[in-house]
Amino acid sequence: MKFVLSTIAWVESMAKKEIEKQGGVIEETIDRLVTFSGWIELIPRINLWSRVWNKMYILLAEKENVVTFDELFDLVSTISWKNYFKKEFPIVVKSNSTRSELFAERTLQSLTKKAIVKSLVWDNNIVNEDSSLEKMEILVLLIDNKARILLNTSWNALHMRGYREKAWEAPIKESLAAALVFLSGWKFREPFYDVFCGSWTIAIEALMIAKNIAPWIKRKFAFEKLWLVSNEITENERVQAKKKEFAGEYTIRASDIDPEMIELAKENARIAWLGWEINFEVRDFREYMDKPISWTLVSNPPYGERLKDENLKSMYNSIDKIFRLNPDLNGWIISSFMEFDNLIKKDTYKKRKLYNGGEMCYFWKKNI
Ligand SMILES: C[S@@+](CC[C@H](N)C(=O)[O-])C[C@H]1O[C@@H](n2cnc3c(N)ncnc32)[C@H](O)[C@@H]1O
Repeated sequence: MKFVLSTIAWVESMAKKEIEKQGGVIEETIDRLVTFSGWIELIPRINLWSRVWNKMYILLAEKENVVTFDELFDLVSTISWKNYFKKEFPIVVKSNSTRSELFAERTLQSLTKKAIVKSLVWDNNIVNEDSSLEKMEILVLLIDNKARILLNTSWNALHMRGYREKAWEAPIKESLAAALVFLSGWKFREPFYDVFCGSWTIAIEALMIAKNIAPWIKRKFAFEKLWLVSNEITENERVQAKKKEFAGEYTIRASDIDPEMIELAKENARIAWLGWEINFEVRDFREYMDKPISWTLVSNPPYGERLKDENLKSMYNSIDKIFRLNPDLNGWIISSFMEFDNLIKKDTYKKRKLYNGGEMCYFWKKNI
């Protein structure tokens, strides 16, 4: 079978490695999409182990040079829909068109739905239109006139792990936090620190990576409503995933100046059933100015409207100072405060472009 994973921008190579680790064979990578092939077991496995990607789709059909609505209708009609859906299952059709001649979203969606309903009606099925029911998502993707018809196996995007019921106003996405931990090259036996933890997304992702916990072990997925994957296969994948957890102890510290944040972090920790393994403290990061530190530090300092520009500059100057004073520190910050580049000496940092939601950020790594 062929599958497509959507990822956040700039982490496609990380997603590829993870897919290969789970047994998938990479076929193609384009902007935020990785196509791969493999057996049916990959549907539960990839969903359970998703750290840096958003949704996993089954590639139902694809065709180059689809430039008329009739061609699209014919492509959708080639799919044996009855092999996927149980009777009367509600569906929703979404579409996305880039550099293609067919781009009218509503027409793309209504035409695709018409083709699906037609196929199902021929088999005496009807599509349930009850708006209160959770729907199975079909995505029509057109890129450079190549059409792909995709079936979402995940349901909600997999970056929302569910442990973060309460969050700071600008929490980082869980999938991005996991990507940061991978990029930092943190060695799990060494201490890990987030000194601006907010709702502690980075710390919990670090702990889940260190303990090799499948992030979605407790969640239900869209594919469980399809004909395709038996309960036995899915249960087996859950059992295997559970067996892969490590029991080791790890030193992870998360601190924030705001006591409310720390209370909220503890509440999230309770939801995730993991929090007792993280050391939470109310602490101003400046307290580390005169303490030698040699651990991996990955943080998301404040930026934007909340602080005045001069306060931000002073804060980022202090971060730079802590990084410079500690040669053994593996230090990283992610921020959209672009002025950081003007505050630091040339060549003392390396940076990588990333996106937090729609916002462009840099992930600066201390290089001194
Ligand atoms: C961008 S938020 C971090 C969001 C976090 N990554 C998350 O996913 O929720 C920045 C955090 O820095 C904290 N902060 C601001 N000034 C601080 C200081 N001097 N020392 C420590 N934390 C501070 C704020 O309270 C806020 O929670």
